[in-house]
Amino acid sequence: MKLEVVILAAGQGTRMKSALPKVLHAVAGKPLLEHVIQTALGLDPEAIHVVIGHGSELVEEALSQYSLNWVTQEQRLGTGHAVIQALPAIASDSIVLVLYGDVPLTELSTLRSLVDQARHGPALLTAVLQNPQGYGRILRDEHGALVGVVEDKDATESQRRIHEINTGLMAAPARDFQEYLPRVNNENQQGEYYLPDVLSLAVAEGKVVASSEAGSELEILGVNDRVQLNQVEREFQRRQAEQLMRQGVSIADAARLDVRGKLTCGDDVSIDINVVFEGEVTLGDGVIIGPNCVLKDVTVNNGTTILAMSHLQDTVVGRECSVGPYSRLRPGTVLGDGARVGNFVETKKTTLGVGSKVNHLSYIGDCDMGPGVNIGAGTITCNYDGVNKHKTEIGAGVFVGSNSTLVAPLKIAEQGFVAAGSTITRAVSQEELAVSRARQRNIQGWQRPGKQENKD
Ligand code: UD1
Ligand code: CA
Repeated sequence: MKLEVVILAAGQGTRMKSALPKVLHAVAGKPLLEHVIQTALGLDPEAIHVVIGHGSELVEEALSQYSLNWVTQEQRLGTGHAVIQALPAIASDSIVLVLYGDVPLTELSTLRSLVDQARHGPALLTAVLQNPQGYGRILRDEHGALVGVVEDKDATESQRRIHEINTGLMAAPARDFQEYLPRVNNENQQGEYYLPDVLSLAVAEGKVVASSEAGSELEILGVNDRVQLNQVEREFQRRQAEQLMRQGVSIADAARLDVRGKLTCGDDVSIDINVVFEGEVTLGDGVIIGPNCVLKDVTVNNGTTILAMSHLQDTVVGRECSVGPYSRLRPGTVLGDGARVGNFVETKKTTLGVGSKVNHLSYIGDCDMGPGVNIGAGTITCNYDGVNKHKTEIGAGVFVGSNSTLVAPLKIAEQGFVAAGSTITRAVSQEELAVSRARQRNIQGWQRPGKQENKD
């Protein structure tokens, strides 16, 4: 049977106290709603309908890469009213799964079995909570059959003592929604059209409502404020860390790892505390990431070590390299195998050849460096003249002495040598020595000034 998914996302999210629509708040760097969409896509549905509130252009824009049917609910008249808005676009012979845009941790397997249960009638995902306050309670008859849901605000004292609650996630044949939703009224405490009321209507007509229990409380946790947002974030990170460890990655502290994107690891990767991975990061076999590093859209090849406090973005690091501590590799940096970049070194749009070294206190930008180059401490490529950026080309085996200033555009040919403290503005040919600094004078018999008498 064909599946169509309806995601309810018209809530205002006032308790977030934010200018941003609630479903755009990020978990692991991605909007809440995107997590729900991605889980839904795992079910391979015919269509995904997202019900959003009036003025939610921001939401549509943020998720424009997905092919979704956006449905506007002009007035927020309840969950039942929200699903009705999507019905005209849904094929009658499909099964409809209703999800919430602010409940991002539901497992695919849970949704699969919910959909399976809904082949011949409605199916509801329930949970048993220690503290059911605020949730709709599940009503069952003396045989244990589900007969309806009563909202917390409408419940009697004894109904409030029921711990089995409605998670809100529901599936049913489209025909059931077509039949029962228009019959739902709003005669209740909140004056809303309640989606779960379709269940009691179906039961009244002799239908059986199936139900299953969610695997954990976290699976059904909805985000209403930033405390819950953080609960969801930590759970999401915990799951990712666990998955990585099961794949053979060593993690110093699973609670101090943040993956905001996709992290792919080879064998025997080791990750120290407080590391943040963003975008797409690939780590080869035996890669070691030291504490407090940030890697965004980076590839690190086999056997390389990134030492503490390093920040890498849009960078490719070769095999057996050493980076850090305290290195900053900015976009467009490519390190050849065995290259070394040390402390307080910043690179940008720069290639280091095999085995080249920039070990201390340097800025290397817009630079093409061959293999076996040694850049001394404190070397700066002056790549910017205030208007344009210029390139520095450094040939194989070049040695640049400490505290040199390389004014681009500049070419230093193979085996060239720059004396320490030089300011180089002209090309250096193969095997030449370039020295550009004031000649040293030593003055003999020079007297240090004596201490002056204080005349005041
Ligand atoms: C709902 C359920 C309740 C359940 C709880 C689980 C109803 C009547 N009640 O209650 O039984 O225990 O969820 O969290 O269904 N939404 C719209 N349009 C609307 C109203 C809601 O899109 O007009 C969306 C919200 O953005 C949200 C979801 O539907 O994603 C649930 O709405 P919410 O107001 O949080 O429902 P609850 O009152 O918590
Ligand atoms: Ca809610």
